[in-house]
Amino acid sequence: MTRAWLDAGLPVAERVDALLAAMTLEERVAQLHQVANPDPVRDAEALRSGAFGTCIVASGAFAGTVRDAGTQAASVNALQRVAVEESRLGVPLLVARDVVHGHRTVFPIPLGQAASFDADLVRRCARAAAVEATADGVRWTFAPMVDVAADARWGRVAEGWGEDPWLASELGAAAVEGFQHGRGGGGLADPDAMAACAKHYVGYGLAQGGRDYAEVDVGPVTLHNRHLRPFVAAVEAGVATVMTAFHTLDGTPMTAHVPLVREHLKGALGFAGAVVSDWDAVAELLLHRVAVDGAHAAARALRAGVDVDMVSGLYAAHLVRLVREGSVPAALVDDAAARVLALKVRLGLFEDPYTDPGRAAAVHLSPAHRALAREAAAAAVVVLRDDGALPVTSAGGVRVHVTGPFATARDELFGTWTLDGRGEDVVTIAEAAAERLGPSVTVDDGRFTDAALVAARAADVVVACVGEHPARSGEANSVTSLDLPPGQRAALEALRRVARRLVVVVVTGRPLALDGLPGDAVLLVFHPGVEGGHGVVDVLTGDVPARGRLPVSLPRSTGHVPLHHDHLPTGRPLDPDGDVDRYRDDRDPPLHVFGSSAAASDVVYGPVTTSAPTVRTGGVVTVRARLTNGGPTAVVETAQLYVRDDVAEVSRPVSELAGVRRVALDPGASDDVVFDLTSAELAHRDASGRPAAVPGTFTVRIGPDARTGPTARVELLDADADADAHDDDIALRRPADAGR
Ligand code: BGC
Repeated sequence: MTRAWLDAGLPVAERVDALLAAMTLEERVAQLHQVANPDPVRDAEALRSGAFGTCIVASGAFAGTVRDAGTQAASVNALQRVAVEESRLGVPLLVARDVVHGHRTVFPIPLGQAASFDADLVRRCARAAAVEATADGVRWTFAPMVDVAADARWGRVAEGWGEDPWLASELGAAAVEGFQHGRGGGGLADPDAMAACAKHYVGYGLAQGGRDYAEVDVGPVTLHNRHLRPFVAAVEAGVATVMTAFHTLDGTPMTAHVPLVREHLKGALGFAGAVVSDWDAVAELLLHRVAVDGAHAAARALRAGVDVDMVSGLYAAHLVRLVREGSVPAALVDDAAARVLALKVRLGLFEDPYTDPGRAAAVHLSPAHRALAREAAAAAVVVLRDDGALPVTSAGGVRVHVTGPFATARDELFGTWTLDGRGEDVVTIAEAAAERLGPSVTVDDGRFTDAALVAARAADVVVACVGEHPARSGEANSVTSLDLPPGQRAALEALRRVARRLVVVVVTGRPLALDGLPGDAVLLVFHPGVEGGHGVVDVLTGDVPARGRLPVSLPRSTGHVPLHHDHLPTGRPLDPDGDVDRYRDDRDPPLHVFGSSAAASDVVYGPVTTSAPTVRTGGVVTVRARLTNGGPTAVVETAQLYVRDDVAEVSRPVSELAGVRRVALDPGASDDVVFDLTSAELAHRDASGRPAAVPGTFTVRIGPDARTGPTARVELLDADADADAHDDDIALRRPADAGR
């Protein structure tokens, strides 16, 4: 047998074809079988016979909230040695693990990284995570999660990039690039590159009531314009794999969804990589009661386009027989196996399946990765209020007391989906404060609120670090109340009565309802990772400008969710001068708007200008505004471009994020922010997912958040229309600002 698949000079497809031709049906099906935690000794016979093609190293379905022993190069090498050197065809194993926001160096949770609004930072964090994880032999991660989530009760809001589809698309694509683009410039084949996985396809963020795994109902226009967008961006960024979600969408489980997986993802979107089920989700088709038995479930999932069966074992148990009987076409198995094998080829596993065991020590928690984690943690801090309490300094003998459960927290700063972080690596907020402000800083962990009050009385500034333990965010961790955990608000109110100055730091995995929270300053930080202590103190002390912005709207109460800034207009718009609320027991608007930060309040936005009043289909228009820092301190401002389609066939959002620019401004300084807006970015999707840009006017706005800032008008013209003709086009349409 010539082993053409080992010839690195041949194109990937030829190598895969050669391998498929050499494989038995059993061996092809085995490539689709992912097992959990194999052992090179216990599972030696299975490895030798090529009984599984991939494995996940994880402690179980809820691994995201439980630390486990992890894996090391030596154990992965031992598995590979049997698979490669003792099996008939020598096909290497593909080893996967959830490397979600860092590996040994833990970065902020994705929601915290999203607060940076900084794709380059996200890319660098994913890159560092890949460098560390591949040193342990892991070449496939189940990240990024790109589900758009507007219901803060859902624990998995922590794992994604927030409520906005543009931001989720930008940051998700950046994470894909970070994971997949190795340092050697060879793409996936670099030994420090890993295959990414865009998950959970699709609509998972709409789980009813925020209850994890619950059903989803969504119309096709919303699906295409909100929930599919980040997946499209991930596919365009070259994501190697996609994971189907657990839920049913309009009654059909995503694991069995032919129209959305096989036809849309693999068909219309042209996704050529591998689709993996979520954990045991093929077997869960029985629990959804859409399959009569395991064989039926396996057949449905494969037909839908799920290539890899994560741990249920049903593909391995049934597909060979189903193909032999003729009830499942062999071509479906071949196509799925080809996708898995192509990934293994692209990862360079046939050239070198082994990992250098010396690499981990050199890269895990390296000074460069720690520095990046500190930068990312500081960028994740959002100032919600500052009545002059910031910065916190010890100048002139100011006495600072740090209190609350998060003052001394270590691995609680990691947040959900931290498998390889270790608490002993963490510098706490209190330690970082003492390091920066001197040994006079006093500390208590808030366990005895009465003792905290005594200490607070003796201080000039109290920094109270409260918030949500990671145990109540992440997978399967939904809540019915978005309030701070029991007792914390009462403790803050007691501190308010005695503290001369109170600075509150809220550490959380989800947007919380913080209406009426006491504090001269309030900072929000989504679980910030291993350098969270330093990052928070860097911002508190003003050493690093507070640049974090809200990647989610903050509700006034739990009753206000779901909530997202880019909602559709209603037929009964709220009157800004009159009755502005629909709720009878509260105000309607969010407490804090998407994109906002109190640290941005001194930046003045000048008028918005456009390079031309019109843009043709296929063209670009430049949109700009001048920003001036009117405050006394240097700022890093995140200017945001929003777009509104004034009139369209379907109702379009009140405004949609379309771009972000960061600009550093010294006191009194001005600078222009410039966006190139293409006509494609003005297009929305119709019910079948096709771009639907119709000529007409768009309102563009550059501002500090989703609600404020100066606007201008741009007209999109037909590609063929000449300048005179467009007036007629427009005349056919209702004027954009026509009243009722
Ligand atoms: C989660 C996925 C995860 C998988 C593997 C599932 O329970 O939903 O996000 O990648 O487990 O650990």
